[in-house]
Amino acid sequence: MTSIRSVIRGVGAYLPERILTNDEISQRLDTSDSWIQERTGIKSRHIAAEGEMTSDLGIKAAKSALVRAGIDPVDIDLLICATATPDRTFPSTAVRIQHAIGMTKGAAFDVQAVCSGFVFAMATADNFIRTGQSKRALVVGAETFSRILDWEDRGTCVLFGDGAGAVVLEAQNQQGTNDDRGVLATRLRSDGRFEDLLYVDGGPSSTQTTGYLRMNGREVFRHAIQKISGVIEETLLASGLAAEEIDLFVPHQANARILDGIAKKLGVAPEKVIKTLDRHGNTSAASIPLALNQAFEAHKLSEGDLVLMEAMGGGFTWGAVLARW
Ligand code: UT7
Repeated sequence: MTSIRSVIRGVGAYLPERILTNDEISQRLDTSDSWIQERTGIKSRHIAAEGEMTSDLGIKAAKSALVRAGIDPVDIDLLICATATPDRTFPSTAVRIQHAIGMTKGAAFDVQAVCSGFVFAMATADNFIRTGQSKRALVVGAETFSRILDWEDRGTCVLFGDGAGAVVLEAQNQQGTNDDRGVLATRLRSDGRFEDLLYVDGGPSSTQTTGYLRMNGREVFRHAIQKISGVIEETLLASGLAAEEIDLFVPHQANARILDGIAKKLGVAPEKVIKTLDRHGNTSAASIPLALNQAFEAHKLSEGDLVLMEAMGGGFTWGAVLARW
């Protein structure tokens, strides 16, 4: 029996011009390039220019993905933007991107699952496509985390960066087997009991300010490998595929030690793991599509490759997407 699958037709990304190195941060904070690199794997990150907003980054990434897909924006009928750093409290950043790219039909909305946002947005778009409600979807992950960082807090400000990535999904009839192209399985999780371990201490309804990111890094780290490995297992089980079959592992880029730990637990060889955090830092919802874009540009993605994406973020939220390129 045939199945409708969400096939990835194109990927694109955008990074702001300004690069901020560990050494620059060390000049004004009690930290060092060696501490940051040893504990996280990060060397530098990109920072949005004054006046450059999340939607500006998202628009550039979306346009690039559309060009690569060879798809006209008027043929897109769903746009989901994953972001925790919207331009405005409302309307959604998604509608600003929608307007800028010239998409006139369907619907655009934001998804807020912080660092897991891209995985949540992909799962949502896939469900719209598989139920026949959408034919072509743009899934964007865009963030300007530099705007919600406390630049005096060395425990958090060294970790994050700005950027955006996007993919174009298209409904295609496939055979209904594991050899199909497109999204094969998704699993999403959240658990609000862990809110206080990673959050922003402001918002329109609480403080009427934007607030700053607060994190108990050690505790988040402690949960990360276990929770992410669990949801990957569930996703593989749902698809009937095994970890050995993964051709490319494209994880959320939070910490090199977390990525390595998960890859080791899964038995995925280091050369199959895409790592961008050395030059991007943690770009929250943008990190997976930025990493996918890097893999694409480095010719590491071939048609038929099995790609595993995963993330965990504030909430906690966590999830995984398994797709065949
Ligand atoms: O994407 C969202 C999910 N987020 C994550 O997955 C982040 C998960 N957590 C982490 O990646 C790590 O916990 C961090 C990189 C944030 C921290 O690494 P850690 O090895 O867990 O360090 P720690 O927090 O246990 O701190 C160790 C020491 C502390 O000093 P004392 O108390 O031992 O004297 C910190 O004050 O390192 C100190 N420290 C720093 N030192 C130099 C914390 N930040 C810095 C810094 N430079 N930037």
